[in-house]
Amino acid sequence: MKNIAVIGSGTMGNGIAHVFAQSNYKVSLIDISQDALDRALATIAKNLDRLIKKEKITEADKQNTLGNITTFTSMKDGVKGVDLAVEAATENVDLKLSIFKDLDEACDGNTILATNTSSISITQIAAVTSRPEKVIGMHFMNPVPVMKLIEVIRGYNTSDEVTNQIMEMSRGLGKAPVEVNDYPGFIANRILMPMINEAIHSLYEGVAGVDEIDTVMKLGMAHPMGPLQLADFIGLDVCLSILNVLHAGFGNPKYAPCPLLVNMVTAGHKGVKSGNGFYSWGHGTKDLIVSDQFKK
Ligand SMILES: NC(=O)c1ccc[n+]([C@@H]2O[C@H](COP(=O)([O-])OP(=O)(O)OC[C@H]3O[C@@H](n4cnc5c(N)ncnc54)[C@H](O)[C@@H]3O)[C@@H](O)[C@H]2O)c1
Repeated sequence: MKNIAVIGSGTMGNGIAHVFAQSNYKVSLIDISQDALDRALATIAKNLDRLIKKEKITEADKQNTLGNITTFTSMKDGVKGVDLAVEAATENVDLKLSIFKDLDEACDGNTILATNTSSISITQIAAVTSRPEKVIGMHFMNPVPVMKLIEVIRGYNTSDEVTNQIMEMSRGLGKAPVEVNDYPGFIANRILMPMINEAIHSLYEGVAGVDEIDTVMKLGMAHPMGPLQLADFIGLDVCLSILNVLHAGFGNPKYAPCPLLVNMVTAGHKGVKSGNGFYSWGHGTKDLIVSDQFKK
């Protein structure tokens, strides 16, 4: 495989395009928004500059990586002749199903179709295509150029051959792929989100404060950041929507989102992106200042 399309050039799409291009794949980066494409190229250039500063790559490597990326606002044009399309568009079921119907029509019959979804069923996405054996999850972690893991998710019909190809290609990108099956939350979010939800419940019930809960998990479990800080970084709206997927998918009340999380999202307190969550982020993300609502 040499030619890759990445659909969606936001937070994840620009990182995915970056790692493929740096490994010498020809990348078509596709978005409906020209602004998003411009921002993505600027972000990739900035991240490559950081690698030059750390003496991990040279200026020539940077130019080569950028030269491997071509941008498109038309998906039909962008996917011509690609071996693999990785979809990283907005997390919305109807949008993804419609993109996969279009991809199935526009791509050659042997093109593998992958999705970076955090929570939508790979099997459901595959079912709208005529090639479910060639549809697979490639769940990259944020920030993509830094994080080693790729959760490779097999849909109900994904073939062994396609899974092996994606596992091998992921290793070639310098990543550590892990194969999992397609059930709600896969592995990463099935384990992470209940932990975050439990941290929010502990706060809601008054067992401990924001700082205390995060400190226990950082110093006691050697987590690089506490679950409440992590939830603010992920986005509280994203955490809520993934918990809703787990709750609906398993029908088990243990996944029901904590009422405090529901209230915060309803009130517009979504974490870093809205400037306020468990911590206050108006001043940037360097210092941890507990939000007024949770100050003792
Ligand atoms: N942000 C994370 O930490 C993270 C981590 C793992 C997986 N994911 C998953 O990655 C995917 C993308 O998330 P993100 O955070 O990068 O979102 P984002 O909002 O930063 O970017 C989404 C991009 O998709 C584009 N888009 C929307 N409709 C499109 C279409 N029809 N065709 C082409 N582009 C379209 C938007 O213009 C936008 O630029 C989601 O499925 C999300 O669940 C996100």
